[in-house]
Amino acid sequence: MHFDPGSRSLLSRHDLGRFPAATLFDKLARVVCAVDCLPRKELYESWEVARRVRRRFRGGRVVDLACGHGLTGWIMLILDGSSERCVALDRRLPASAQRLHEALADAWPAVANRVSMREGDLADEPLTAQDVVVATHACGTLTDRVLAQASEVRARVAVLPCCHDASASSQAGLSGWLDPGLAIDVARATQLGHAGYLVHTQTIPATITPKNRLLLGEPTERVLPAPRPAPAGSTDRSAHPSRARSGPR
Ligand SMILES: C[S@@+](CC[C@H](N)C(=O)[O-])C[C@H]1O[C@@H](n2cnc3c(N)ncnc32)[C@H](O)[C@@H]1O
Repeated sequence: MHFDPGSRSLLSRHDLGRFPAATLFDKLARVVCAVDCLPRKELYESWEVARRVRRRFRGGRVVDLACGHGLTGWIMLILDGSSERCVALDRRLPASAQRLHEALADAWPAVANRVSMREGDLADEPLTAQDVVVATHACGTLTDRVLAQASEVRARVAVLPCCHDASASSQAGLSGWLDPGLAIDVARATQLGHAGYLVHTQTIPATITPKNRLLLGEPTERVLPAPRPAPAGSTDRSAHPSRARSGPR
């Protein structure tokens, strides 16, 4: 029978046999199945987001905002040992989040003491320029808040937006051409660019979720060569691309 990765059904012990391989993904899926609490699509969404973000952004503290069960942050640490820590934060952690955390900790003991989960508003988490901020399906304007918070400190950031709210998020005048959700995401990408970020746009498979646009941003100063010293007497400060940006910092 077809196994739909976008299903909201809970993964359970009955699904263990679907993940027999010695791969990292199957090991992760078996741990999740045994806990019997996670909607199937959350496993696939978290995996697809985490591995794409990790291909671009290594190291740093991982901050998983509006984290739900915190699986995206967990996977990012499993995939990349160069991150010392992950903080996963949600206004209200699901009741089953602790059980999943404990099961993951049993399976990856070396990662366990580097992941902490806590409850709070995302504005309560102080960020720094070294962080990798990720938010998988932070609903509506929550995604805008994540982008604003991360760009304020020049952190690397990745969001997979959902529940677009055309009455609250900017569409940058694009609603005559693009559907509102797409207009909002284009406006977000453009705004990140204006803030001096190198922007990457990707998608995760639509079979997992139709809300599959992944927006990644990296401050240009992290990727561009350091500016050459200006010749004596020069007042030109726009030679370095990161200084030529037009938007707010
Ligand atoms: C659609 S869920 C996504 C959860 C998880 N990232 C995932 O992909 O499964 C959105 C989450 O945002 C959380 N949330 C809503 N407002 C928040 C806020 N102000 N600060 C932190 N988390 C918030 C909710 O509690 C919920 O868990």
